[in-house]
Amino acid sequence: MEIKKIACIGAGYVGGPTMSVIAQKNPHIQVTVVDLNSSRIDAWNSENLDELPVYEPGLDQVVAEARGRNLFFSTDVEKAISEAEMIFISVNTPTKTYGKGKGQAADLKFIELCARQIADVATSSKIIVEKSTIPVRTAATIKSILDHTGKGVQFNVLSNPEFLAEGTAIVDLYNPDRILIGGEDEKAINALKTVYEAWVPTERIITTNLWSSELSKLVANAFLAQRVSSINSISELCEVTGANVDEVAHAIGQDSRIGSKFLKASVGFGGSCFQKDLLNLVYIARSYNLTEVANYWEQVILINDHQKTRFAEKIIRSMYNTVNGKKIAFLGWAFKKNTNDTRESAAIYVADHLLDEQAQISVYDPKVQESQIYKDLDYLATRSADENKELLKVINDPYEVAKDAHGLAILTEWDEFKDLDWKRIKESMKKPAFIFDGRKLLDKQKLEGLGFVYYAIGE
Ligand code: UDX
Ligand code: UDX
Ligand code: ADP
Repeated sequence: MEIKKIACIGAGYVGGPTMSVIAQKNPHIQVTVVDLNSSRIDAWNSENLDELPVYEPGLDQVVAEARGRNLFFSTDVEKAISEAEMIFISVNTPTKTYGKGKGQAADLKFIELCARQIADVATSSKIIVEKSTIPVRTAATIKSILDHTGKGVQFNVLSNPEFLAEGTAIVDLYNPDRILIGGEDEKAINALKTVYEAWVPTERIITTNLWSSELSKLVANAFLAQRVSSINSISELCEVTGANVDEVAHAIGQDSRIGSKFLKASVGFGGSCFQKDLLNLVYIARSYNLTEVANYWEQVILINDHQKTRFAEKIIRSMYNTVNGKKIAFLGWAFKKNTNDTRESAAIYVADHLLDEQAQISVYDPKVQESQIYKDLDYLATRSADENKELLKVINDPYEVAKDAHGLAILTEWDEFKDLDWKRIKESMKKPAFIFDGRKLLDKQKLEGLGFVYYAIGE
């Protein structure tokens, strides 16, 4: 089957960049990305490429090349569905905030809505591709909805999880370690394979059954998160023994069985996937009564929570056990560098902890908007929105943020922070001027030379 038109439901961090690259590499396929959120679609269509709703290095060029040629962003969900032979589902699957599985299970209401909408509209056969991360066996749910509510047309459901990381989405999409396609129907699998073969070598495309593909996505993220929690747990041990966690990471990473990547100790992992997918894995294991398996993976999350708390407590302890009324400068709010995404960012939890102690926080992040920062804090519902606005200020200048601060904390490893005029910052801060480097970004010797009291994770 030759695919001429693709639709993608969901124009977020996954759908937007992925479809842009698919369209760029397949000029003969018309790709339409749809979303219910019209302001998001407007932003994808904006003339000024700085206003795209997702910040990803290199994305603007891809969009510039393909948009209007064979890449379209629209709110007309029905039209896109009815015209396409292949439909990607890239909607959000947040952790449930209510009812059974609250705080753990994935909320599939958006996925179900998509399935119902597709069934409603489709008058010809469709290949449905799950892109969103979903619990194992969601394909069965989608298929069941389609077959029971559809107009008798044929639906083939494939699982095609996304492995791109934010901040490097375009590089990851251009040069993926692997593409994973799970499904039953060979023709449908081959149709999707052909789309990727426009730029990905065939041997990197793995095909499995549906359930292996769905589970692999959760397991990949669980293993990656586990590495970060493993090294973070060792960072605490380093601090009390005099070992240095970077030295330990380097030494163990040279063992090819361990490998050197993903061993950077930090203030804790964030992002939309790790915690959500771990919770999902734990929930699934529990629902099959696999208590030991569930407890094992849950520990990865608990260490991550501990790491964030421990960082906040270190700040308080160092500053003579009180931060009440003291200004603390935050450099970075995003969950990692080169993204404007803040979901589950460690910064949110560290800030919340310090605000509980009545600290005055000022934040600078080069890509995150002020409204997003307040939204993140308000979402925790620890205190009123007015109190958050009172205690935390967002300032668009790193030097202003640091001025008169008692302490400065690095929450995101933005490259530009390395090149700040640290002498100037030191002079403008209250003394002793504390730095808490949650990303091990700065040069300890240089900063101590300037007279800072410098603390980094794992040293
Ligand atoms: C280990 C370390 O590999 C070595 O570097 C250290 O110096 C001593 O301890 P060893 O115990 O000889 O070496 O064997 P290893 O190959 O690491 O296997 C340990 C156990 O893990 C074995 O029972 C092996 O069967 C098991 N294993 C290993 C698995 O079950 N699955 C694997 O993928 C790898
Ligand atoms: C992750 C997976 O990498 C990706 O394959 C999947 O598709 C989505 O989830 P992402 O969340 O975008 O991607 O970012 P990632 O680079 O994995 O980082 C996740 C978090 O771990 C970040 O907060 C990062 O700062 C932290 N991290 C990562 C560390 O603290 N240390 C490391 O060594 C690596
Ligand atoms: P991800 O990181 O998984 O891409 P996002 O939240 O960035 O998650 O993007 C998901 C997008 O899906 C949001 O823009 C949301 O508006 C959109 N969406 C959710 N449900 C539907 C639906 N039924 N139809 C169209 N768009 C939807």
